[in-house]
Amino acid sequence: MDKQKIKSKKAIIPLVCIGVLAAGLVLIFAWSAGWLGNRTTTASFLKDIPDSFPAGYRRAHSKGICFEGTFRSTGKLAPFSKATVFSQDSSAVLGRFSIGTVDPFAADNSTRTVSMAMMISSENNQQWRMKLNNHPFFVTHDALGVIRRSDAYKIDSTTGKPNPALVSAFLKDYPEAQNFIDWADKAPWVNSFAVAEYNVINAFYLIDSKGNKHAVRWSMRPHAPFSAWSKEEREHASHDFLFDDLKQRLDKGALYWDLVMTFAEPGDEIENPSKAWPANRRHIVAGVLEIKRVFDQTEGGCRDINFDPTKVPAGIEVSKDPVLTARAGIYAHSYNARVREIGYGKATDAIGKKETSKDK
Ligand code: HEM
Repeated sequence: MDKQKIKSKKAIIPLVCIGVLAAGLVLIFAWSAGWLGNRTTTASFLKDIPDSFPAGYRRAHSKGICFEGTFRSTGKLAPFSKATVFSQDSSAVLGRFSIGTVDPFAADNSTRTVSMAMMISSENNQQWRMKLNNHPFFVTHDALGVIRRSDAYKIDSTTGKPNPALVSAFLKDYPEAQNFIDWADKAPWVNSFAVAEYNVINAFYLIDSKGNKHAVRWSMRPHAPFSAWSKEEREHASHDFLFDDLKQRLDKGALYWDLVMTFAEPGDEIENPSKAWPANRRHIVAGVLEIKRVFDQTEGGCRDINFDPTKVPAGIEVSKDPVLTARAGIYAHSYNARVREIGYGKATDAIGKKETSKDK
């Protein structure tokens, strides 16, 4: 073998190594993105969304309205968290009310779930994003349970009902879901966004100036007195009843909610969102949210925000609640899809264009 051949053989070896390494990295990337095999990833939570889904809308809680507000701190949380939002007097809020359906054109009486999302911006460019529902607890102890539930309750085309075997297998693995079913069966349906109490459901930690951690959950407790639909009122409610009611109330004056922080005690389940903590836990009113104005989501504002609840300011930390951590990925997929559709000019009514998704 002459010297030239030996040299070129030596040159090939590193090239082959680089090629193998690059191919390995591509495979690892594809696997972690869920492109290989049947692994459940955060993208799997959107698997039932059809390609025909109206462009530019959120893949859940699609029907909503933006709001602007102010959060005024009471100062009472400052000893428990170094987050500036608890020490400065007031912070700007951009938020969104929504109903819990996937369909952006749903009637307001089609779901009992009403929701509030918001981003509180405080000094030093700190942002606190959150999404809250009027449920007191989550349906399952983990995120996979959500896929199991939706698969179990799919309507069987031959019987027109969910397959009872799948439902009982789901309830066997997730017995806690029965609590949620009972709650959904019995709890009154609120007849206004203004009267609902919104709960963060997952647990977080407040971090004080000495670095101590305090496990908490919080709720937005309305100042407006509670009111609910009777069955008959609900059945006859107009298509946009809740959104119209909100605008009418704001025409008469501002709406207020207390941000009530609840502290866990030893033994309370921090990482299980299906388990509410006992009612006698310590509560502290951290501040008051004032809302004076709502505006259409087609105008932008809240439309282009991902109210990812894991985006918390210094002084608040996320817990290891598996539903909370999964939500960050799920919301990113929904956000990326809808913002891409808007960016590529596919969205119509979602951004206020005359042609509607329904006309297509
Ligand atoms: C694994 C469980 C969950 C799944 C699969 C899920 C799925 C989704 C998706 C796809 C969106 C649209 C996000 C966007 O495009 O910005 C969304 C929005 C929302 N979710 Fe969830 N979610 C889950 C758990 C929860 C929980 C536990 C809460 C309440 C604490 C919640 C409250 C909300 C709210 C309030 C919105 C509307 C946010 C907005 O107005 O931007 N979700 N959800």
